[in-house]
Order: sequence, then structure tokens, then C-alpha cells
Amino acid sequence: MVDLEVKIGGITLKNPVTTASGCFGYGLEYTDFLDISRLGAIFTKATTGEPREGNPSPRMAETPMGMINSVGLQNKGVDHFIEHIYPHLSAYDTHFIVNVSGSTVEEYVEVASKIDVLEKIPGIELNISCPNVKEGGMVFGTDPVSARKVIRAVREAYHKTLIVKLSPNVTSIKDFALIAQEEGADSVSLINTLLAMAIDAERRKPLIARITGGLSGPAVKPIALRMVWEVAQAVEIPVIGLGGISSATDVIEFMLAGATAVQVGTANFIDPAISLKILEGIIDYMERHGFSSVKELTGALEI
Ligand code: FUM
Repeated sequence: MVDLEVKIGGITLKNPVTTASGCFGYGLEYTDFLDISRLGAIFTKATTGEPREGNPSPRMAETPMGMINSVGLQNKGVDHFIEHIYPHLSAYDTHFIVNVSGSTVEEYVEVASKIDVLEKIPGIELNISCPNVKEGGMVFGTDPVSARKVIRAVREAYHKTLIVKLSPNVTSIKDFALIAQEEGADSVSLINTLLAMAIDAERRKPLIARITGGLSGPAVKPIALRMVWEVAQAVEIPVIGLGGISSATDVIEFMLAGATAVQVGTANFIDPAISLKILEGIIDYMERHGFSSVKELTGALEI
């Protein structure tokens, strides 16, 4: 028996394996494929103040070892979430962490405040890193002044665990992690997708209607690992690592680099039950290497 528990702010996760926002719906869509109660947590699709149609199609393209998406924060809005999704969540013994987005500081605060009173939601992930919208998202997360402003405003309005999801589309991601920490965030998650594009040479057209989108999948993993390492060196708050994780070995690497927990994203599109297979692989690794607690792995890289 190994101890898999980890702590992110005020949330105790039964294990460090969670699913990434936008790659696992609300979790409820996946109950035919796996027992979602075995997951450490589920990060929901981004939720905004008003419903959004998202970007025009095509908005997904496969690339070598990855994919580009430009979904554009399509969702039915926070009130729909509260009325129609939230009531179903208490049937499951895992944490649901709502990914919160918006176009303005006021919209972020409005969504966060509405989520704050929901008993079954112990935390939010503040999305200041979506690369697929004209306002909000990465626009906030790549400018230090705007990032600080939105994190500060949400921290004042939101009283439970606040995780800030960081953009890799900056020169120094650790500067943004430090801003999040200074403004009272309990954790940072990284990386969101890398701004990218793909072209159909035969048609001489972009493969994504909005031309650019966010790259995810194994192609980004070495970059994500480097960024997790840099951020974990710089901050005291726990780091949640993501970016191309598709195996238990990937998770071990992220934890050795300093992550306390991880999110599995794009790999869910290939195998919807991958996260639990990854969990089994982590247990196997711990047993083979004599680790009794998964916490021992965090930052255990030997340099
Ligand atoms: O386009 C999207 O909905 C992506 C969101 C994100 O990367 O946070």
C-alpha cells in the first residue's frame, strides 16, 4: 500500500492524477469509460459569465505528436452550470474544480463569486491563459499588470482554493507564477497551450478557421517540463503540471521536476480511461522504487 494523497491549497486530493480543463468535459460524460471517483480531481471546461458559441470551425487540427485547438471557450455560461451540471456532481467522490474565464475583470469576478457559494466545489482554476479569444484569457495572462489586476480582484471575491492557470506564451513564466503567489493564489497550474498554427499546403489555407490556436499533446511536453521546473524553483505554493502527459512515466517526470499534482489533457481524446491507467503506473513505479508516499517524488530530481 502506498500513500497517494497530496494537498493543493485547502484541497486534499486522494491522488495526484487529475484531468485537464477542456479535455474531459465535466467528467460526467466519461462515466461509461471509467470510475471518475478514483481521480484526484476533475478540472471542468472553462465557464464564463454568459453562454458562448465559441470560434468558427474548423477549430481542431492534428499535428505531429499533438493537436491544435481553437474552441474559443464554448460553454453555456455559469448559470447553466449551476442549474444543470452542479446538481449531478455530488454523486461522485472526487473534487470538481471549475475553470473560470471571462473577457473582463468584472466577468471573472462575477463567475468566481457565483461558484464561491457552491458547497461541492472546493476550488477554481483561473484561466488567464486561453490563447483563442480576443479579450480575456491569454490577454490577461501575458501582461504582468493585467494578470495581477485580475488575480487580485478574484482573490478578494473568492474564498476557497484559487489555482491560476499560466500561459507558456511569455518570456519568463516564473514571473507570472510569482505574481500569482504574491496576489494570494494557493497554487499555479501550467502549461496551457502554446500559440501555434497549421497550414494545408494543397489548399493553401490555414487548417484552423481563426488561423492560430493552442498546441497541446506530447509535442509540448519537454517545454512544459522545463517550465514546471523553473516555476517550482521560484514559488512556495504547489505547482500542478500539465502539457502532453500520456503515461505514468510522464507524471513521474513532472513530479521530479517539482509538480505536486498533474493534469492529463489531450491524451483523454485517444483513450478516455488513460488517467486511471496512469494512476496504476504511478503505484507500480512507487513500489518498484521503494517510495511509500507520492509526496516524496515532488522535486526529487537529482542534479
Ligand atoms: O479555446 C478554448 O476554449 C481553449 C481554452 C484554453 O486553452 O484555456
